[in-house]
Amino acid sequence: MIATIEIQRQKSRTDKPYKQTFAVDTGSRATVAELIERINSEQIPEDPVTWERSCKQKKCGACAMLINGRPRLACDARVYEYGEKPIKLAPLKKFPVVCDLMVDRSTMFENLKNLGSWLEENSVADMTGDSYEASRCLQCGCCLEVCPNFYAGGKFFGAAGLSPSSRLIAVSEAGDRKRLYGEYGKHFYRGCGKSLSCKDICPAGIDTEHLMVNSNAAAVWKRKFRAGKKK
Ligand code: SF4
Ligand code: SF4
Ligand code: FES
Repeated sequence: MIATIEIQRQKSRTDKPYKQTFAVDTGSRATVAELIERINSEQIPEDPVTWERSCKQKKCGACAMLINGRPRLACDARVYEYGEKPIKLAPLKKFPVVCDLMVDRSTMFENLKNLGSWLEENSVADMTGDSYEASRCLQCGCCLEVCPNFYAGGKFFGAAGLSPSSRLIAVSEAGDRKRLYGEYGKHFYRGCGKSLSCKDICPAGIDTEHLMVNSNAAAVWKRKFRAGKKK
């Protein structure tokens, strides 16, 4: 089959975006990542499309982009899913464009530092249950793209912040809890509108609803309940 690929390009953060269309003779099971690689090597080797990728098997989150308007991993999107329709690629919109399909997601990684997502107590990093579920987060940013409450530079860190918080809250010891609960409240609980768009979009299939229910119970409600009991 001949797949039509339309790619939004932009040479730098300040340049105007423009569109380029390519036709690729391909099998229907090819991934969008494979198509970009073929376009770059076979059609425009002198001016290849800039994009990020590493694992090409849904493990690193680097290849997140908008595919026909929906945030997805290019290595997880297959040609047959789009039938005869053109496949339109654009960079994620919540982060500044570096070049073409590559965006600067450093805000998301800075947020991880601001979350204080590490353990200071001598905790055992139990990788079962919620902790395992949360550890599957790729930090791809797809959830942030559809989150109505997230914007880069804000105090609310979205589901990309929920996952690392929940992972540690699930295994934390008493000494770490106060700090982790406080950061969770400040950077997730108080900003989340519970729309659950993040749950439907997550390419890792993380059950963000389940994580937020359990983390809210631990970090918010139990703390209040304990405080109430002391009175
Ligand atoms: S929660 Fe899902 S969509 Fe959000 S960053 Fe993690 S893997 Fe990506
Ligand atoms: S539930 Fe809604 S507001 Fe909360 S993190 Fe998910 S998409 Fe964002
Ligand atoms: S290249 Fe790693 S998730 Fe797509």
